[in-house]
Amino acid sequence: MQDLSSNPQAGRFNRRRFLKTTGAAMVLPLILPGYATGSTRHTRASNRITLGVVGWGMQGPGNTKSFLYEDDCQVVAACDLDKNHLQSAVDTINDHYENKDCKAYHDYRELMARTDIDAVMLAVPDHWHELVATEAARHRKDIYGEKPLARTIAEQQAIVRAVQENKIIWQTGSWQRSQAPFRKAAEIVRNGLIGKVTRVKVGLPSGHHDFAGTAPDLLKKLGQPPENTEYLATIIPGTDAWNAAVSEPPAELDYETWIGPSQMEPYIQARVHMNWRWNYNTGGGQLLDWIGHHCDIAHWGLGFDASGPSEIEGRGDFPPANAIWNTCTKYRIELQYPEDITMTIAGGYPDIRNGTKWIGTDGWVWVDREGFEGSNPEWKRNKNLSDRLRKVKLYESRNHQRNFLDCVKSRQPTITPVETGHHSSIPGHLGLISMLTGRKIRWSVGDEKIIGDPEASKLLTREYRPPWVLA
Ligand SMILES: NC(=O)c1ccc[n+]([C@@H]2O[C@H](COP(=O)([O-])OP(=O)(O)OC[C@H]3O[C@@H](n4cnc5c(N)ncnc54)[C@H](O)[C@@H]3O)[C@@H](O)[C@H]2O)c1
Repeated sequence: MQDLSSNPQAGRFNRRRFLKTTGAAMVLPLILPGYATGSTRHTRASNRITLGVVGWGMQGPGNTKSFLYEDDCQVVAACDLDKNHLQSAVDTINDHYENKDCKAYHDYRELMARTDIDAVMLAVPDHWHELVATEAARHRKDIYGEKPLARTIAEQQAIVRAVQENKIIWQTGSWQRSQAPFRKAAEIVRNGLIGKVTRVKVGLPSGHHDFAGTAPDLLKKLGQPPENTEYLATIIPGTDAWNAAVSEPPAELDYETWIGPSQMEPYIQARVHMNWRWNYNTGGGQLLDWIGHHCDIAHWGLGFDASGPSEIEGRGDFPPANAIWNTCTKYRIELQYPEDITMTIAGGYPDIRNGTKWIGTDGWVWVDREGFEGSNPEWKRNKNLSDRLRKVKLYESRNHQRNFLDCVKSRQPTITPVETGHHSSIPGHLGLISMLTGRKIRWSVGDEKIIGDPEASKLLTREYRPPWVLA
């Protein structure tokens, strides 16, 4: 593990508390955090990590609830562009603490400017990751930030730079790393128990999913059966169906800001909360939604957290580019990795089972949220790999949010630091670029550039709508 003992940020959390409580401004003694002295149940207020949460939709509440139950953390602020979501955030947090202390923010920049906030949890749609995260990093907030790292590789690079320059702690929301079956599978691979790895299969979901449950109302208006949600991937501008889908944004939502750096487009409910992932203007479809989970685990097993593919070739089935839901429905991407390892990332192909499967010269192992299987049935018997086989021990975390808080205090890297989150998502971005250009992409892992393809290289970034500017 990286030695951060000489990091000037080490002890920042306690240092700030000390200054606040004593008014001291000189050489500061180290005050041990509550968890280090074993008094985690009743941690003094001055030793709590103060947290602001941004984004209260599908993922924000779950992340926040985990933090609420950690006694050495105090959630003090919430931010959302939807007044109803914001109210729900504030109510949930205040109900938990039985007080009225949580402050509500519409503008994340005001929350970030608060000097009494140590850390933030970011669960905003992908098209907002870069702006919110770099603002937080500039204000030296430690960040629990959602996957995929961002909407484009250039945005991811901006986040990595900001985190590194400001020496903050980052945890990517790729929480599978904090689950025992995923660690066991990765350790089996890392300990050579399947021999030399030759091939990896990463299976992700296909199609679209109406997470918000708002599609049936629109489908009813259009005379379609409520379950025919894929019909939304056929509706294009200029049609009656499109006109029926467009409406005024609801009063509670600041839609102008919600669209943010993406291209302005008329409000369509089925494209906003939760379902923004099915529109390339704001999200990256199933591929980018899941790459930060199963490809993240694939890299972990391979020991490729700082590595990546050199060749990427993908094919996908795409709806019309201007359809309400326009992200690809079925896709298959072949990738060439170092050490002669080939990987397939696919959605909608039955030969590529959902989850991560490593195949080696002496066996195989597969893991998913649904289960764990391996060529040796012994591996399945126990939660962890036996110590006899576990010569290489991977970073162990039992709770992703807890791991973040521990690292905020220790100033040691989390189980999924920003560089890891960056590399885990790159294959998805490059796969999408290959599919959109219709050709193989050659990638230079070291300097993070597409080789010999200026047109494809343009897709590493995207234009920001003024006044928003990529950091
Ligand atoms: N780790 C996981 O398992 C997991 C699961 C689901 C989602 N996610 C990730 O979480 C993030 C959020 O996804 P979601 O499904 O919760 O989206 P969502 O649409 O349900 O919620 C996002 C919330 O952010 C708010 N918001 C948007 N822009 C904002 C801004 N600039 N400032 C403040 N609030 C803003 C929206 O109003 C909304 O309430 C995405 O990056 C997604 O990929 C991760």
